[in-house]
Amino acid sequence: MLWANRHVVVGVTGGIACYKSCYLVRRLVEAGAQVDVILTRGAAEFVTPVTFEALTGRPVFSSLWEPGRALAHVQLGRSADLFIVAPATAHTLARIRHGFADDFLTAAVLAAQCPVVLAPAMNDAMFAAPPTVENVAELRSRGMTVVGPEGGPLAEGAADRPGRMSEPDTILAYARRAVASASPLVGRRVVVTAGPTRESLDPVRVITNRSSGKMGYRLAEAAWQRGANVLLISGPSGEAVPIGVEFEAIESTADLHGAVQRALPAADVLIMAAAPADYRPSESTPTKRPRQQGPVSLSFEPTVDILVATQPDRKPGAVVVGFALETGLDLGKAKAKLERKGLDFVVGNDALEPGAGFEVDTNRVLVLGRDGFRREFPLASKSVVAEQILDLVETKLG
Ligand code: CTP
Repeated sequence: MLWANRHVVVGVTGGIACYKSCYLVRRLVEAGAQVDVILTRGAAEFVTPVTFEALTGRPVFSSLWEPGRALAHVQLGRSADLFIVAPATAHTLARIRHGFADDFLTAAVLAAQCPVVLAPAMNDAMFAAPPTVENVAELRSRGMTVVGPEGGPLAEGAADRPGRMSEPDTILAYARRAVASASPLVGRRVVVTAGPTRESLDPVRVITNRSSGKMGYRLAEAAWQRGANVLLISGPSGEAVPIGVEFEAIESTADLHGAVQRALPAADVLIMAAAPADYRPSESTPTKRPRQQGPVSLSFEPTVDILVATQPDRKPGAVVVGFALETGLDLGKAKAKLERKGLDFVVGNDALEPGAGFEVDTNRVLVLGRDGFRREFPLASKSVVAEQILDLVETKLG
């Protein structure tokens, strides 16, 4: 996967947020990256080199003057696929901006040939001070990614203004986007729909389905991390909106249709992972329906088939992916959906299979393509399945 065999250098500078850097490094190592850590003198006052040596299984760098390591700062800077500085103090941001090279960390950043991600952490007033504002703007304009800082508790008390270092998972999401420069998804508009719809019976009751939205949320997350500009349109879901992703909440199939149509002219990729209701109650009463004696029957009317309806308005060359959730994997039905809905790919899964379909974190899918493509993927987490689907989308965009 993405981090396997990647060489990531993590520079840690002197701030209390250093404790979070330990977790950041651990996450990278777990994901398969080869991680080298550079500690400034200030950082070593907060966390010892031994902590990072234990986490990475590799020696930590801290001084330019260690015997036998005369060129290490240049070698690290050159061989890294990614350079992260977390936390980055106000002082370090200023030094990087001006090209100082009198300690190991800033010398290695100066020699770096790879994307650089900076995660500032400092007192909120220091971050808002004109020199820091200028330094951040300048480093951004040179192509470095600056993640955070965020509002919230600081060492010296609560602050609403930014100062606190972003959480490791947020830094990792931005880091991944920073290294995705070769993906055909970079700069593309990707629209993902997710979750169930709710069709109103009365102000209290709705008709809905068991979709959790998980598959769509993982797709939106992975597409953003590959460099796309992502809009996620979702029905009610317990999932958190992924970092970086624009979000539009919808309720009914009619809402979803409207939102998709508005997004369509700009969409290079449309992935319909939502489970829109095919029928809605013919009448939604303005007041609560009272209990009645004996059975009740309801009348339903069909909703619009959104994928079918989008066909005339799609951007030329847009890649369109639909899902086919069946009870029992029915190849014929999936293939018919591919054709009827004008899809590049249809992702089939079986609602009855344990570990696949609705409400679980894993999925097992079969993908059919317009050009006769067919591949069965093994049971995997929805994050992994999302990557596999995006790999296929990339082949169409590439
Ligand atoms: N879909 C849609 N509009 C609808 C219903 C579904 O665009 N009103 C999309 C889904 O988001 C999915 C694909 O069409 O990408 C297939 O959805 P599915 O429920 O499997 O198929 P249906 O067309 O509803 O057919 P059936 O219920 O008969 O299997």
